[in-house]
Amino acid sequence: MILKRRPRRLRKNNAIRNLMAETKLTREDFIMPLFVIEGENKQEAIKSLPGISRMSPDVAMKEVDEIVQLGVQALLLFGIPETKDVQGSSAYDSNGVVQEAIKRIKDRYPDLFLITDVCLCSYTDHGHCGVVQDKVIVNDRTLDILARVAISHAQAGVDMVAPSDMMDGRVGVIRSVLDRDGYEHVGIMSYAVKFASNFYGPFRDIADATPIFGDRKSYQMDYRNADEALREINLDVEEGADIIIVKPALAYLDIIRRIKDTINIPIAAYNVSGEYSMIDLAGSHGLMKREEAFMETLIAMKRAGASIIISYFTKELLRKDLI
Ligand code: PBG
Repeated sequence: MILKRRPRRLRKNNAIRNLMAETKLTREDFIMPLFVIEGENKQEAIKSLPGISRMSPDVAMKEVDEIVQLGVQALLLFGIPETKDVQGSSAYDSNGVVQEAIKRIKDRYPDLFLITDVCLCSYTDHGHCGVVQDKVIVNDRTLDILARVAISHAQAGVDMVAPSDMMDGRVGVIRSVLDRDGYEHVGIMSYAVKFASNFYGPFRDIADATPIFGDRKSYQMDYRNADEALREINLDVEEGADIIIVKPALAYLDIIRRIKDTINIPIAAYNVSGEYSMIDLAGSHGLMKREEAFMETLIAMKRAGASIIISYFTKELLRKDLI
């Protein structure tokens, strides 16, 4: 049979497939999340997020030693405090769990790029991302608190803050207080497009951040919307975001691609906890090859247009030399 075009010629063996590969992952693409709790010598594994644990600062430092050795160059820090209250005031305590961790990490690794999640849900006793009044999440009062949280992280030495609360106007407010206090070099990686998603389940276990009433649909985005995602991004870019996050990643690759094609801003895909656990569990039940399935989904995020990937799989990826 005479066929002029035979695409299979370019898939013949590994070498030619590698030569043809349009999308490649590198170590530098990844940000590793890290969960810090108060106390000493504590490490708590979380069943719903296999292989990931939360650690007291001393143990976390050993983890940081390890991941720096592996070539991770950026971390996203989450704190889980011992005491919670109605407005999440331990989130801006200058001796709080995250602030202490920032100081320790930056002291040992000044060149490691350190990013902190700025939100209240792990710090409030009701588990919502903002101040609550009559069961309503109040936007502007939350902004004042988020601003204090961001400043306290900047004072501790963070490189970039990542507001994940989805309140209106928070990027602008955080940018202005950072600039006002001389932290113009501290960047903002905004969770600009964060959908009210079912894929955050395991995160809420590890971060102890499940709302005790209602859900997050009055502040996180409706997953039926894509045009609205572009409006959210435009707002955050105008307000001063340096990088934007699309979250979750897997069910939202169309959104990543649309942003990539229309707005000139670096995009980070958040490969969230549910996406990670789903593949891990399927793998451990023999339903698919775990590592290859991880690679396939991570490549998909980059192919869609993300230049940065936040993933719980980062450490394993590097430890096993998968890239
Ligand atoms: C806090 C926050 C959440 C995640 C990151 N920051 C959860 C939520 O909004 O309920 C999810 C991360 C993940 O699932 O891996 N607002």
